[in-house]
Amino acid sequence: MIPSILPTYNRAPLSFVKGEGVWLQTEDGRRYLDLGAGIAVNALGHANPDLVDALTTQANALWHVSNLYQIPAQQKLADALVERTFADTCFFTNSGTEAMELVVKMARKYWHDQGQPERTRILTFEGAFHGRSSAAIAAVGTEKMTKGFGPLLSGFTQLPWGDHEALREAAAQADVGAILIEPVQGEGGIRPVPDQCLKGLRDLCDDIGALLIFDEVQCGMGRTGKLFAHEWAGVTPDIMMVAKGIGGGFPLGAVLATEAAAACMVAGTHGSTYGGNPLACAVGAKVMEIVASEDFLDGVRARSGRLRQGLEGLVASHPEVFEGVRGTGLMLGLKCKGAPADLVQAGYAEGVLTVPAADNVVRLLPPLNIAEAEIDEALSRLDRVAARVGSDAG
Ligand SMILES: Cc1ncc(COP(=O)(O)O)c(C=O)c1O
Repeated sequence: MIPSILPTYNRAPLSFVKGEGVWLQTEDGRRYLDLGAGIAVNALGHANPDLVDALTTQANALWHVSNLYQIPAQQKLADALVERTFADTCFFTNSGTEAMELVVKMARKYWHDQGQPERTRILTFEGAFHGRSSAAIAAVGTEKMTKGFGPLLSGFTQLPWGDHEALREAAAQADVGAILIEPVQGEGGIRPVPDQCLKGLRDLCDDIGALLIFDEVQCGMGRTGKLFAHEWAGVTPDIMMVAKGIGGGFPLGAVLATEAAAACMVAGTHGSTYGGNPLACAVGAKVMEIVASEDFLDGVRARSGRLRQGLEGLVASHPEVFEGVRGTGLMLGLKCKGAPADLVQAGYAEGVLTVPAADNVVRLLPPLNIAEAEIDEALSRLDRVAARVGSDAG
């Protein structure tokens, strides 16, 4: 009999009832160090007092009004994002996938309004992940994502990772309107795009007049030690998707765009009942206030250095389990010799939570405010996890 929850996830037999900072607790009182943070969502940890305060203050005043009216919390968050980024305007969504939907619509409408409606093609990259909607799975195009869900939305071409020749060839096609890329691939196995390549993509888009779209749903909001990952490369996109960390655990996403890219989206062309809801935006505005500060981002970089150094040591002590460390900021991956699921599973026994990704990688995406002592504790737990997996493998 089908379970009462549609079984699209293989869930671990763990049920948490309480969270505090980087810790999660089960009903029977077992504590787990959460290095997954809801897959890069709980940017400021669980039950962060500032976010609880922002949420409850808003909840006591007003939960929801539709986008038929002005929403002060939404305005505050939009102004903060515009002030701090390349963007001139924002549209708020409830998730990364919803942001993806608008990105595809905006890219198409842009070219429609430019009088070149044939430029519908969006180039994407092998290993990418942009969500699970019809557009998002078509964008990625793998059999794993798309099998059984056809006919797929047309207009996407997937390119091999790092193949500049294939990119140049595909970009030369007359129907290309945009290039969409995660500056650091998350689900694909924590693969940062080298700064030079992001710069090259910006130049290429400028040459062919295409829109450059960054998906910073996972790598944005301080995760790499800058507010947005593309800042490391010194280039800006025309359009960007944001979600996960921006809500700190409350469902919130956004599309940020330049005026030139977004001017096509006039009244009536897009909408969302819940997107930009007062509760979500009150939390988002507080997350933004905390994470966008240079002091906070300095702290993320320092914590990243400590974690990374410890992970390099871990890899050196367990060469039978690991191949190396990859990633940037607090978006780090342990490339495993065996199945990453073995490591994730062994972590349950040692009270540490990690997240598997493609390419045999275990992801570490802790809350951005994890304390030094908690990093050290995480490293010693991971050492015990590796010993378990290593002895099983031997
Ligand atoms: C890079 C990226 N884009 C888009 C999405 C989809 O976001 P959501 O799950 O909030 O719909 C994800 C989710 O993992 C993601 O990592």
